[in-house]
Amino acid sequence: MGIAEGRSQLNTEAPIPLIGLGTATSNLNEEEIKAAVTTALQVGYRHFDTASFYRTEHALGEALNSAFQSGIVSREDVFVTTKLANTEHDDPVAAINNSLKNLQLEYVDLYLIHWPVKMRETSTLSQPKEEDFLPLDIKSTWQGMEQCMKMGLSKAIGVSNFSSKKVEDLLSYAKIPPAVDQVEMHPMWQQNRLREYCSKHKIHVSAWSPLGAPNNPWGSNSLMDNPLIQEIAQKHGKTRAQVILRWGIEQGVSVLPKSFNPGRIAENFQIFDWSLSVDDHDKISKLEQCKILPGHQFVNSTTSFYKTVEELWDGEI
Ligand SMILES: NC(=O)c1ccc[n+]([C@@H]2O[C@H](COP(=O)([O-])OP(=O)(O)OC[C@H]3O[C@@H](n4cnc5c(N)ncnc54)[C@H](OP(=O)(O)O)[C@@H]3O)[C@@H](O)[C@H]2O)c1
Repeated sequence: MGIAEGRSQLNTEAPIPLIGLGTATSNLNEEEIKAAVTTALQVGYRHFDTASFYRTEHALGEALNSAFQSGIVSREDVFVTTKLANTEHDDPVAAINNSLKNLQLEYVDLYLIHWPVKMRETSTLSQPKEEDFLPLDIKSTWQGMEQCMKMGLSKAIGVSNFSSKKVEDLLSYAKIPPAVDQVEMHPMWQQNRLREYCSKHKIHVSAWSPLGAPNNPWGSNSLMDNPLIQEIAQKHGKTRAQVILRWGIEQGVSVLPKSFNPGRIAENFQIFDWSLSVDDHDKISKLEQCKILPGHQFVNSTTSFYKTVEELWDGEI
């Protein structure tokens, strides 16, 4: 499996489509999300990324179920990912059951630990306070994730925002190895070290904010506005987003661009019938690196498991 088929293979042997629709939004509008998912299905997307924290599971579930009922696609045709929130580490089985209820599904294809961070139920992911942090015990959380898979509630389990060191620790005790590490990745944050480690251990990497999250409160326009990306796009007669996403899939990862705009949903999918040149790759590989979302909100000098961002990423920043 590869780019020609539009899919890669997980260590569970299940295929994962190389492009998935992201659904995180700061402007929750159920009808808009449903319309975006329906458009994406029509365009050919078969992979959807959500999380209990995003509060988009319900709208995604509504759109998928009406597509199943009208016979546009069947459940087996789509790959659905959701994530265990930082506030849900104590009971992954209860958490996934709640997500499945929102999604109106009997199983998800992939269940991820959203962040290597544990917080009180009452806290918010975006702006936690000092008293919100709880001691972290990834081993026990992972046992709960394994239970979700054994119960058939998820076909595969994995992590998100884990450094190579955190994945290595997890592999030392996991009975089921993670299938995926979903991390920030794009030409300005290429994750070479993590990707080399994951490839050695048969862990698929998925790229979040693959466009650098332009025009988002948490993102930046610096990648889309980068002169090199503009130059390469012009040369190929493609858009900047297409160049960035094509670069991602040529690195062997799956990309999860979010768009709720019909034209851009379609545009982002047009990345399978052309390619970048060796020279393009060479130039992109030299771009200055800058992590757009370092996760400062999960770091404090008193109550967090991580006193600095370097600790959060184990130096991979
Ligand atoms: N695991 C994690 O911790 C984590 C963290 C962040 C994100 N994610 C996942 O990754 C997904 C994508 O990340 P993201 O939403 O942060 O960033 P992104 O996909 O890099 O960027 C989304 C932004 O780009 C715009 N956009 C999309 N296609 C475009 C195009 N062709 N031309 C110009 N602008 C375009 C979108 O606006 P329009 O909607 O108006 O097109 C939106 O403002 C999320 O939705 C979520 O599913 C996961």
